[in-house]
Amino acid sequence: MFEDFLQKSLAELEAQHRRRRLRVSGLATGALVRFGDKTLHNFASNDYLGLAAHPQVIAAAVEATREFGAGTGASRLLTGTQTPHHDFEEKLAIFKNTAAALVFANGYAASTGALQALAGKDDVVLLDKLSHACLVDGARLSGAVLRPFHHNDTGHLEHHLRWAREKYPQARIFIVTESVFSMDGDLAPLREIVELKDKYGAVLLLDDAHATGVLGRGGRGLADQLGLSNRIEVQMGTLGKALGSSGGYIAGSRALIDFLINRARSFVFSTAAPASTAAAASAALDLSTGAEGDCRRAKLRELASLFHPVPPAAIHPIIIGPEEDTLRTSKQMAQLGFHVPAIRPPTVPQGTSRLRVSLSAVHDPETVRALAGALRAVSAPEEPKTDNPDTVCPVCGAALISEKCKVVCRSATCGYRIVFNCSEF
Ligand SMILES: Cc1ncc(COP(=O)(O)O)c(C=O)c1O
Repeated sequence: MFEDFLQKSLAELEAQHRRRRLRVSGLATGALVRFGDKTLHNFASNDYLGLAAHPQVIAAAVEATREFGAGTGASRLLTGTQTPHHDFEEKLAIFKNTAAALVFANGYAASTGALQALAGKDDVVLLDKLSHACLVDGARLSGAVLRPFHHNDTGHLEHHLRWAREKYPQARIFIVTESVFSMDGDLAPLREIVELKDKYGAVLLLDDAHATGVLGRGGRGLADQLGLSNRIEVQMGTLGKALGSSGGYIAGSRALIDFLINRARSFVFSTAAPASTAAAASAALDLSTGAEGDCRRAKLRELASLFHPVPPAAIHPIIIGPEEDTLRTSKQMAQLGFHVPAIRPPTVPQGTSRLRVSLSAVHDPETVRALAGALRAVSAPEEPKTDNPDTVCPVCGAALISEKCKVVCRSATCGYRIVFNCSEF
């Protein structure tokens, strides 16, 4: 019976083109990824600055492993807090311009732990509709009244704030949003949100996962970029993206951190992440705030400007719609040498399946131009574009010629061509 239930559920996912499978990769970070014997240009990693494979970051992790061991053996509250955790938290608090910071095993645990601890059943959580699952799950765990507001719609947020103040006059109201949205790559209207938060006496939890290392001075995030750091009560982020390690954090007042140390269940009841992750993130933070970080961010901006005249950050979605078409397009991209994963529900709303390109400072402009050309070619299969000098062959870099139902490389020796699913065929 139980096995039948599992098989039936998997078959349903398969029929909806939503079944996920694990793929073992050889080289997961950096510009390339290897699946079996196939090496692809990697546009799926959130290692935005390319620090996961940086020699200084690796050396810090190795050194900490030698000194402190591969595992911590206990939760942070028992013997799991080692010197690298402590030192990194002090450095992180300075980086975020807050009084204190606390490291969790990952960003998911940081968000769920913080929201579960901070909000209760008599409180209200107002959450941007496109917020990451860890924010939604944390809000649900808290038992608070949960109201999503339309994505980046401050009018709708204010409507909810007014409603919450009237209906629950005693409640604490939390506003929860991301600074750079993980699947859309756009920015929250943070200044307006902070103004509304102050006007209605609410508390803001900002998830800076995709802005840490990428935006702001030294990669301090969107709040820093807008000069709002000291007006946000709960700043959350991850060490697993631009900081090239793994772990998550909450930064804020000393009282906030002391409260979470006592009440965040994902912190209290979980073995501490190895010291190597804190040491690696600490080395990455030094790189991010130094000249090398500025250099890598400048390169990232330059690459992102190949997709967008004023790129918000490093994520570029290509919305296709149906799951099946998105999967097919992702496979076509793999055939052309690019790993650009298909993102489907429940990660994104129904009907908005997409390819998600994430750029990194370790990419080179030629490969990103080739990627853009290949994306243009494969994501508009019904209407192949006419000859476009910006469209270059992803294999050899020569110009592509678009004809009805096919795109071919101009180079006589290359042989690259894509044939589309036109009705005449
Ligand atoms: C916006 C956002 N918040 C939080 C997380 C969770 O961070 P972590 O991967 O460290 O658990 C992610 C990761 O995908 C994310 O995209």
